[in-house]
Amino acid sequence: MSNFLDLIKKQRTRRKTKKFSGTFLDYLGVVKDDPSIIKLSHRRLYETINNLGVETVDVGSEGYRDYFNGDKIRLYDYFSKEFFGMEPVINKLMRFLKSAAYKGEESRQVLLLMGPVGAGKSALVESIKNSLENAGSFYHLEGCPIREEPLHLLPRSLREEFKDILGVHIEGDLCPICRHKLINEFNGEYEKFPVTQSTFSQRGRRGVAVVPPMDANSQDVSVLVGTEDISKLDLYPEDDPRVLSLNGAFNVGNRGIVEFVEVFKNEIEFLHTMLTATQEKRVPSPGKNDMIYFDGVILSHCNESEWNRFKSEHTNEAILDRVLKIEVPYILELDQETKIYEKMISRSDFRSAHIAPHTIKIASMFSVMSRLKPTNKCDILTKMKIYNGEAIIEKGRVKKVDIKDLRDEAKKEGMEGISTRFVMKALDAALSDSEKDMITPINVIDSLIKQVKEQIIDEDTKSKYLEILQKLIREEYLRILETEIAKAFITAYEEQAQSLFDSYLDNAECYTTNSKVKDKITREERSPDESFMKSIEEMIGVVGSARDGFRSDVTAYMFSKLRKGETVDYKSYGPLREAVEQYLIMSVKDISRIVTRSKSRDDDQKKKYTDMIETLIDDYGYNEYSAEEILTYASNNLWRDS
Ligand SMILES: Nc1ncnc2c1ncn2[C@@H]1O[C@H](COP(=O)(O)OP(=O)(O)OP(=O)(O)O)[C@@H](O)[C@H]1O
Ligand SMILES: [Mg+2]
Repeated sequence: MSNFLDLIKKQRTRRKTKKFSGTFLDYLGVVKDDPSIIKLSHRRLYETINNLGVETVDVGSEGYRDYFNGDKIRLYDYFSKEFFGMEPVINKLMRFLKSAAYKGEESRQVLLLMGPVGAGKSALVESIKNSLENAGSFYHLEGCPIREEPLHLLPRSLREEFKDILGVHIEGDLCPICRHKLINEFNGEYEKFPVTQSTFSQRGRRGVAVVPPMDANSQDVSVLVGTEDISKLDLYPEDDPRVLSLNGAFNVGNRGIVEFVEVFKNEIEFLHTMLTATQEKRVPSPGKNDMIYFDGVILSHCNESEWNRFKSEHTNEAILDRVLKIEVPYILELDQETKIYEKMISRSDFRSAHIAPHTIKIASMFSVMSRLKPTNKCDILTKMKIYNGEAIIEKGRVKKVDIKDLRDEAKKEGMEGISTRFVMKALDAALSDSEKDMITPINVIDSLIKQVKEQIIDEDTKSKYLEILQKLIREEYLRILETEIAKAFITAYEEQAQSLFDSYLDNAECYTTNSKVKDKITREERSPDESFMKSIEEMIGVVGSARDGFRSDVTAYMFSKLRKGETVDYKSYGPLREAVEQYLIMSVKDISRIVTRSKSRDDDQKKKYTDMIETLIDDYGYNEYSAEEILTYASNNLWRDS
């Protein structure tokens, strides 16, 4: 119990000690000591996120992905644990904040995130708001409903001088309530006006405001700019600022962020207030008072159809001109898409369930492929792999398809297809249906098929999705499964692959340099083993006259790696790795098929079978039930022709 009290007290003192309280004169001293505390909202937000860590990566540096297309990319620590594959979007957003921070035209624009459902717009805005909530406190006039910057107290005639002394930028005018207070309570002696500090809090309505979309009937600008308090109208004269309740979104979000959810669902009059707020940095006051200074980042989001509808009306031009649109497409990189679901599952009640290997990857393959535009440069599965940065091996060489070409010809790719929520629902359904608290790729494919049949209405789209699931993904999964089972049959797979690789390399090197292979044990010399090399090479379709080239390519590649002091193992050279692995897998294909399929096994086969299952469980991450399920599936679906 006392532990709890300690915690509570500690938190309370921590909060209390931080809070400044003094007069405006004291505040001037604080500013003189640290002028960097004076900043407008865009700058505060930009610095808050940026100061948590950022790294620039370029082609060749670690963490750089093919999908970035040769552009330099900044990776922000703040977003990197929560958002995957959204780096290009986040870069645009941070670029906007940065230019706004340095007082470019952007500080007078509304930022609009536009993209399909479930692409992460709301999550991104939420995370940006959270960053402010953890950013520490800001100074403001005590009792001010809009928590304004204390420097607003300085009369215009003195500002130039103070700007020079303090070395800060001063803008904005006192709000009507503080002005009234200054005259009536402090007799105009602004140096005595009290100053305090607050933290940002959406729930506390301090510096973070959200405007949900409203229908035309219930819409009232008071949501944005506050109201006149009717109960006080009797107490004070009509234009007395004390009747004002400055509790609208622009009042609450002053100094921080105002978010507009599904912004274009609002009435046009409503949006004009937004326009004034950005353009003039002022918002109307309720009643007869003067406009009120506003400094905040306006963030909004919408989907594409709302955007198109809004854009098509030419009367909306004035607003469109003030909008900086950033597209938030779906993720097209398989590995990144996979991380989204891993994150979601780790946060759900299913986090303790057993998820068989490849399950999330197979589900992600579906969403990614559903989003890709077809191309005549390659099939859709290959395109997915290329976007994912995988090497495509063809005829012994890494196939060069330029991502840039693929991306250029597929305009608007990522703006439609299967959403993250659709996949998440299918994963949830499969998990709920499972009796053993586990899911395998087989369950997930079934669950997705069921959901497509039930929920996708458009016939063409439906059959396109079913083909992806029932053909492309199914075949790809069977390939993965066949390899995995075969691998599990091979004891010490890695060592065997390495030793095959080493002997191939020895032989290829001697062949290329026209020398003899020296036996490591007997020290006898012999000619390179032609039939061994051929049997490896044919695994990846290197035959006939292509052999010489392949052998000298491999040798040259390895020499250059060794020269640079890099380590060389069987994974170093993609095409050879593929060949070696295929060779190994071929060598156990028959036995793995026979042992897996047969109902009655002899002693030797029994041992092989249990060893294999053990490998699946210990090394590959299956459990007893998922191993059994995939093996049953494999024996029913693989090796059909035999
Ligand atoms: N690239 C991503 N990285 C991490 N999480 C993501 C990503 N894309 C989507 N998500 C997750 O998907 C879920 C749905 O996203 P969100 O609600 O933000 O979508 P939205 O774009 O606002 O959709 P809507 O238009 O339907 O409001 C969230 O839990 C979010 O965290
Ligand atoms: Mg949303």
